[in-house]
Amino acid sequence: MIRSYLFVPGDDLKKLGKSTTSPADALIYDLEDSVGPERKDVARTIVRDHLLAHVATTHFKVVRVNGPTTGLMAGDLAAIVVGRPDAILLPKCESQADIDRLGHMLDALEAREGIAPGRTRIEALVTETATSVLNAASRRFAHARLSGITWGSEDLSADIGAIAKAGPDGRLDDTFRYARVVCLLSASSAGATPIDTVYPDFRDAAGFEAECVMAKRMGFLAKYAIHPAQIETINRVFATSEAELDWARKIVAAFAAAGNGGVTKMDGKMLDKPHLTLARRLLGVA
Ligand code: COA
Ligand code: MG
Repeated sequence: MIRSYLFVPGDDLKKLGKSTTSPADALIYDLEDSVGPERKDVARTIVRDHLLAHVATTHFKVVRVNGPTTGLMAGDLAAIVVGRPDAILLPKCESQADIDRLGHMLDALEAREGIAPGRTRIEALVTETATSVLNAASRRFAHARLSGITWGSEDLSADIGAIAKAGPDGRLDDTFRYARVVCLLSASSAGATPIDTVYPDFRDAAGFEAECVMAKRMGFLAKYAIHPAQIETINRVFATSEAELDWARKIVAAFAAAGNGGVTKMDGKMLDKPHLTLARRLLGVA
């Protein structure tokens, strides 16, 4: 179960080196926004070499390529697939066609490298433009490689011209709350893991923890980190707690005791089918 992802700028040898001992479940080597235009080429080479040197490690390894309209994506993939990344993070994903196109490119590159067809998963960032949010809200994405769906607010702010994404109290404005919800629903409908976005203010541990707690309550199963100090919090908050497991086991037992699969009660509260479904889901996730 992947809960925590650490973003690592793809051209930063020092951070790449440090990432190898991170307690994060997954590492994302970034070729996109954290790499300046003049460093795009060198970042490809660095990430490829780093992947090749760490093929056997247990981290789930993701590469964020440049977006579908940059003219860089095919070259990014051609350079790095030899390093057998476990997944490609597709930024600025606006449509099913973007996912399909990436899938076709991976089909060809896996064949070239002798990698099992379909091994490379796709995670899609589906809220970075206004068009993306509207499309993600109105259709179900489907692809055999699609394993995660995530969202981001920085690029969406830029696309729509929002000066900030939250007021002084830190509560997200409606546009971004909506984007977050669209991501969650889109992931559920696609059968993909919903992944909550980054929290850029990496010195604000309390704010970060609160955001993790809310994300977990909403149904997100994982979260991105930009700084190593955020990983422990994600791993802890997103773990299924003993209390949650107890609750789930008690629900399952209550239904078994009632023997009818319909309505029953526990601790003075009604229980019906959705509670049983949720309890089984929790036990499955754990
Ligand atoms: N991955 C691996 N190591 C990291 C890291 C990361 N994402 N972020 C910081 N570190 C390392 C630093 O190199 C530093 O190492 P040192 O103690 O050996 O010097 C240590 O962790 C502490 O870092 P700190 O000084 O607190 O932060 P910083 O000023 O070096 O970096 C950021 C701050 C935000 C620039 C950095 O965390 C970063 O690059 N994050 C990822 C950005 C990114 O990928 N964005 C794209 C997705 S939105
Ligand atoms: Mg971005």
